[in-house]
Amino acid sequence: MKKKFTAPRGTTDILPSEIPLWEKIEAKCRNLLQTYGYQQIRPPLFEETELFARSMGQTSDVVQKQMLNLVSQALDSNGHIQLSGLSLRPEATASVVRAYIQHNMDKKESLTKLFYFGPMFRGERPQKGRLRQFHQVGVEVLGADAFNPYLDAEVIALAVGILEAIGIKKREVHLNTLGTQKDKERFSKELRRLLQPSYQKLCEFCQSRFERNVFRILDCKHKGCQDIVRKTSVSHQYLSPESQEYYKAVKKALDCLGISYRENPLLVRGLDYYTHTVFEITAENLGSQDAVGAGGRYNNLVSQLGGDSIPAVGFALGIERMILAAQANGAQAKGFSSQAFLIALDEDSLEEMFIILQKLRQEGISSDMSYRSGSLKSHMRLANKKEAAFVVLMGENERQKGTVTVKNMATGQQQEISIKEKDYHLLIQHLKGE
Ligand code: HAM
Repeated sequence: MKKKFTAPRGTTDILPSEIPLWEKIEAKCRNLLQTYGYQQIRPPLFEETELFARSMGQTSDVVQKQMLNLVSQALDSNGHIQLSGLSLRPEATASVVRAYIQHNMDKKESLTKLFYFGPMFRGERPQKGRLRQFHQVGVEVLGADAFNPYLDAEVIALAVGILEAIGIKKREVHLNTLGTQKDKERFSKELRRLLQPSYQKLCEFCQSRFERNVFRILDCKHKGCQDIVRKTSVSHQYLSPESQEYYKAVKKALDCLGISYRENPLLVRGLDYYTHTVFEITAENLGSQDAVGAGGRYNNLVSQLGGDSIPAVGFALGIERMILAAQANGAQAKGFSSQAFLIALDEDSLEEMFIILQKLRQEGISSDMSYRSGSLKSHMRLANKKEAAFVVLMGENERQKGTVTVKNMATGQQQEISIKEKDYHLLIQHLKGE
């Protein structure tokens, strides 16, 4: 028996029946993003691996375990496959920053607001809400003027606004600040001091994370480590007075907009580039992968990737997780239906109906047919299935008179309309409801 192929594990086919909901969600996002003044950018799906390693951090889970590297077909002199040094993008922030620097966008305006839609790739162990190819809608605000608490609040409000627009009511914003790079170093020291007494009880990975990147311990999924973390109580004492002021201003701006949030001083996020504000938004009905979106400020990334010292802030929402949460809230969308369904009742009418089909489409009237002649009953069944607004039919009777019968499927009303060249506009007007 021949092998039947299936989509690779952790990827999904988004089927025609699911597309209306995807399109509805994308349209709502696009609408809101444009209302907030964001412009779309479409970076490539793969980049140099080093770009991701330098931005997200060598010790991040994504870089260490989840990169999907591209392997070129070329073999070296020893017969080994050559690694191309390229990886599928696990996220788009690094790509957007790379494009921002490459195209000198900082020289063009002091505030650049960009958004993107598209697939991301992470070699994770698949489970509900965790895929190896998934989609994000995200925004990045970059520019000399981007270090402004109103912008931290705006991106959070925008993420919440998108979730609201697609009907995800039960959600929670978790908020924290990491402060500057110096504050982060003090925070690391403080965490090591607090976790030191429990060092022996940490899992093997966390023991190695302890020196390399202690923040990762806070996200460990190991139950023993989670218990230790839960009992760890940290305060924002490690923050400089300026960072504390900035955080206060972000919270005040969120309060002004009526955005509620829950502060969590242990929220650090798994990517290295964050400074100051970090946030995560969780939603109900997502199981253990309950983060529907996340983001934060990254004031050093542009300079780390070779640009000037330009601050930035952004977020990304996972579209598959948004769809899961929206469906749990009853979201659905109606599929596309044709305006007209054409029926040829006999073989001799078929060619004429095929010509009319083309003419209607050229007039912008969405139309379809079965491309064969057949009984009225079986064709009406098809027209109903396609939810066509009108049925246009021709049998021997109509053909001899040079007419078609047009039935309005909602009212049941029928009308015979001439299809002679000089009368053609009558059929078009009728189907367009003019
Ligand atoms: P992230 O937290 O890695 O952040 O991903 C953002 C969202 O993408 C998650 O909250 C989740 O909804 C979705 N997501 C992530 N991994 C998967 C997966 N394997 N399967 C399904 N959905 C997933 C970022 O990507 C940052 N670039 C966000 C950002 C933008 N920060 C600043 N600007």
